[in-house]
Amino acid sequence: MCGIFGYIGKNNAKEKLIEGLENLEYRGYDSSGVAIVQNGQVHIVKKAGKVCVLKDELMDSDINGNCGIAHTRWATHGLPTQLNAHPHTDSKNTLCLVHNGIIENYLELKSEYNLTTKTQSDTEIIAELISKIDEKKNLDKIKKACNLLKGSYALAVIFKDEPETIYLAKKESPIMVALGNDGVYISSDANAFKKYANNFYILKNNEFAKISNNNIEFYNKNKKINKKTNNIEKTFSFENKNKYLMQDEIMQTPDALKETALYFDNFKNIKHYFDNVDKIYLIGCGTAYHSCLLGKKYLEFLNVPIFTEIASEFRYSKIKPSKNSLCIFVSQSGETADTIACVKKCKCKTLAITNVPNSSITFNCKKTILMKAGWERAVASTKAYCCQLLVFYLIKCLLKNEKPKWKQLVSSCRKYLKKNNIKDISKKVLNFEKIMFIGRQEDYVTAMESSLKLKEISYINCIACPSGELKHGTLALVDENTLVILISTKHSLHNKNLLSKQEIEARMGCCFVASNIADSKIELPNLSSDLLPILSILPFQLLACEVCISKGYNPDKPRNLSKSVTVE
Ligand code: M6R
Repeated sequence: MCGIFGYIGKNNAKEKLIEGLENLEYRGYDSSGVAIVQNGQVHIVKKAGKVCVLKDELMDSDINGNCGIAHTRWATHGLPTQLNAHPHTDSKNTLCLVHNGIIENYLELKSEYNLTTKTQSDTEIIAELISKIDEKKNLDKIKKACNLLKGSYALAVIFKDEPETIYLAKKESPIMVALGNDGVYISSDANAFKKYANNFYILKNNEFAKISNNNIEFYNKNKKINKKTNNIEKTFSFENKNKYLMQDEIMQTPDALKETALYFDNFKNIKHYFDNVDKIYLIGCGTAYHSCLLGKKYLEFLNVPIFTEIASEFRYSKIKPSKNSLCIFVSQSGETADTIACVKKCKCKTLAITNVPNSSITFNCKKTILMKAGWERAVASTKAYCCQLLVFYLIKCLLKNEKPKWKQLVSSCRKYLKKNNIKDISKKVLNFEKIMFIGRQEDYVTAMESSLKLKEISYINCIACPSGELKHGTLALVDENTLVILISTKHSLHNKNLLSKQEIEARMGCCFVASNIADSKIELPNLSSDLLPILSILPFQLLACEVCISKGYNPDKPRNLSKSVTVE
């Protein structure tokens, strides 16, 4: 979703800002813009569409300066047009700003303060408010305006009368600052700092920063404060070998699993966190929610009630976990707004499983298990999903005092990906109007995740159904235009699954079996039943990617979606 980048230093800001925005592109957006200070004047360039459009115009222009702010916008209020793109200015043109988040009371503020706006964006209201406030110091204007805002914001502001200074403000949406060799960098995503700095500062809620060349000052609502730095994670860099990030990221799964398993040693004391727990809640969204469903299977031996919850639902449910509950939040990005809302709701033991250190979820949870999947940039989550499942498996082994067999998992994953013979199947998938994934138990979860993957990047209407539920309604959809992919990894249920195949074929539907058991159209890795659920998704991640590419789409940037869903 929206991204902020800023730079003030020795070098040409426009190159830095474009590079920063390119690093934020993976998050999803539909327009972009920059404000650059040149000889005391602020120049704004905004474009609908891709950052490359903005880049072309900016690089051809005479705009040059050493200070600027930039933004990628994922439209929430108003169409993704050039007008609605950030930066926004106030009507008197005294300042410009970029904003991540949502101002919930922007319409109330607009009428209460009699503000006129030229765009449909909630952000413009912030610019108008700041400029209306009668305070001498620009920082005080921002502080006062922020007091009036409801909702979430990360703001970067440049004032016309103080053009070599960038102000920041934060509530709920992330914003960070890093001191590099050639200047100060600002970003809403620490990944974008990697090239420039070794550590960075994270603003907390209701904190502010005043940044000028090589000088960073932090403030809370009342006074100037000191802050500690955080290290930027640079340990694992995965090479890009393919045309698309998603292809690379699937191929990185063996290394991601290995690093995650090795790093898990740092979290062994988590064992005691499970003592005296009387209920467990597993909470996440999308793919992370599917990890929760499989996580439940790994933890069922504990014999305590385990509930799996979709974060966007759970945040509004009347259920409040009791004091002795343990809530486990799964989130690749650590920034998913619905999941964060659930963390805040749960006043009990809280544990995050995430891939991003220093993310909002890690700050809000009492404990964190960090995965080492490496930067996942393609919108469709792949290697991170496998690592989330691995973490649940490792927790199970830890609690049961079993030796984890992760080396076997890693080598099997490597072998499987080397073989990769999904191309033929993907061609066949294109012949069908409707696709269904079915399975039982763990395989049903894999079916759900496979269906999500395929629809998310190839825009094919597909669903998942538990095999045993077909007859209760979904079978009515089956005809000669339907392909059903039946996932079957349990010996004890294999014959039952084959009955489903017959039922589908009797209705002229086509059924491909995906299995590690007998001769099957789609071969699954040959692994024991506790490890296989971690990898049984592999052929379907590959399949989704192949189908998407052969339809001419870019799997890394599916329409309407964003990598990090930071607003509700
Ligand atoms: O960063 P998170 O794991 O919290 O993200 C949750 C979902 O938005 C995410 O898994 C989404 O479903 C993926 N794009 C699926 O591939």
